[in-house]
Amino acid sequence: MKILMVSPECAPFSKVGGLADMVSSLSKCFAASGCEVKVFTPLYSTVKRPPKMAKMLDNLSVHMGLGIEEFASVWSAPLGKAEACFLEFNKFYDRPGIYNYEGTDYGDNGGRFAFLSRAALEYCLATGWIPDVIHCHDWTVGLIPVYLNTTLRHTALGRTATVFTIHNLQHQGVFDKGVLEYAGIPMSEFRADSTEAMGALNMMKAGLYNATKLTTVSPTYSREIQTSEYGCGLDGLLRFRAGDLIGILNGVDTDEWNPQTDKNIPANYNLGDMKGKAACKKALQEKVGLAVDAKKPLFGVVSRLYDQKGLDLLARIAQPLVDNMDIQLMVLGNGEKWLEDAFSGLTAANPGKISCYIGFNGALSHMVEAGSDFFLMPSRFEPCGLNQMYSMIYGTLPIVRATGGLVDTVEQYREGAGRGDGFVFGDATTDALYNTIGWACSTWYDRKRDISSMQRNGMSKDFSWNNSADKYMQVYRWAVGVRSMI
Ligand code: ADP
Ligand code: GLC
Repeated sequence: MKILMVSPECAPFSKVGGLADMVSSLSKCFAASGCEVKVFTPLYSTVKRPPKMAKMLDNLSVHMGLGIEEFASVWSAPLGKAEACFLEFNKFYDRPGIYNYEGTDYGDNGGRFAFLSRAALEYCLATGWIPDVIHCHDWTVGLIPVYLNTTLRHTALGRTATVFTIHNLQHQGVFDKGVLEYAGIPMSEFRADSTEAMGALNMMKAGLYNATKLTTVSPTYSREIQTSEYGCGLDGLLRFRAGDLIGILNGVDTDEWNPQTDKNIPANYNLGDMKGKAACKKALQEKVGLAVDAKKPLFGVVSRLYDQKGLDLLARIAQPLVDNMDIQLMVLGNGEKWLEDAFSGLTAANPGKISCYIGFNGALSHMVEAGSDFFLMPSRFEPCGLNQMYSMIYGTLPIVRATGGLVDTVEQYREGAGRGDGFVFGDATTDALYNTIGWACSTWYDRKRDISSMQRNGMSKDFSWNNSADKYMQVYRWAVGVRSMI
């Protein structure tokens, strides 16, 4: 099977969130099992260039609409046994941010990602490498299935199937219809049953209408997005395409996230020997200025600080939490300014008890996963979520709201029975979060044995791609079969 992944992010080269991890780890997994896999992604100026990166194509001509022909380059680097292909086009990608700068989206994002989509296809045509499946990730590449159904239908790519994965339905890529003209897609596609929504171009909708098959990143989220509460206006379309939509839980890159081998943490450990975890907690407390104390439960957060993640709830109750319970809190994150300021203010007011690092820091995220006792994810919605899985792998008990992939991965603690591997609550309210942290805290102090058995339960789970990669392969085969009949 020849697979082309097209994605705006790919770890470890470029990353804003879990999309980068998912694309990279799934690609490596397929390549390791013998598929030919390429990941096509922009060469942002912030991409960490690996030593083996080399230019493999110059003067790739990319035909946009309005008669525009642009010339770009493609660089190549190994990604496990897969190949990462970087699109160099400085006009669009030589910028400090992937989607935005200091909180403001780039005004030309529609054009930037229409260009990525078209260039990925031109790359295939120019090199003669024709994939069986193009796997498109989120709104940025929603125009790829449209190209294959229209402008490029009668090219060598005409029989290539598309699988479109929804990582987050909240971000849909809504732009003026002029972007469609720039993309070189016929204006006849600007219809409610293709690319148009409420008078604008909607790139997510374009992908959802036009792809051969659809997936999203957990079974629960695949059901949620078919309701008006979680459907972000596209639930009707998702119900319409329900027969082509499947929820597949993300796997974890277990080379990257493994407490036995992780080089980002000061001591390694495993289920049979947890001493290293205590050393990780001490090192984290020292590093981030929390009081060094093995006995106090440490609650960690690693997150984008946006409405989705529900961390405003935490910011509101953090002061009473540390006033009334003997706990510590460490927040690593960045995003909305007011939330960054709120956690910075809480840190300044509570030295030794609350700490935060505002920014993106991959190495520190591993230290927080390993060094914390509990991990907080009070998400309002969560398509899959990777951090709760990383936490369980590191013996850190997740505290999550019952939504999306969090439902599919965390099993509720059953007091007395020592069952479960985390704490789950239902309402996105400060009360529910406060009380659940209280429950975790009392378990820490009063039912130590249950804490150990929950750690064991979480650490024994298999979060690798073993199961989910097979499910994706089934979807690919299914998509190839359907496409060959059209
Ligand atoms: P989302 O993709 O919605 O942000 P996920 O849980 O799927 O949520 O993935 C988040 C990924 O981004 C994880 O790998 C997490 O460790 C990482 N991450 C988020 N914020 C930061 C940060 N400030 N510093 C380092 N890593 C971060
Ligand atoms: C999105 C979602 C997150 C998911 C990630 C990878 O960013 O918000 O829940 O884990 O994509 O699929």
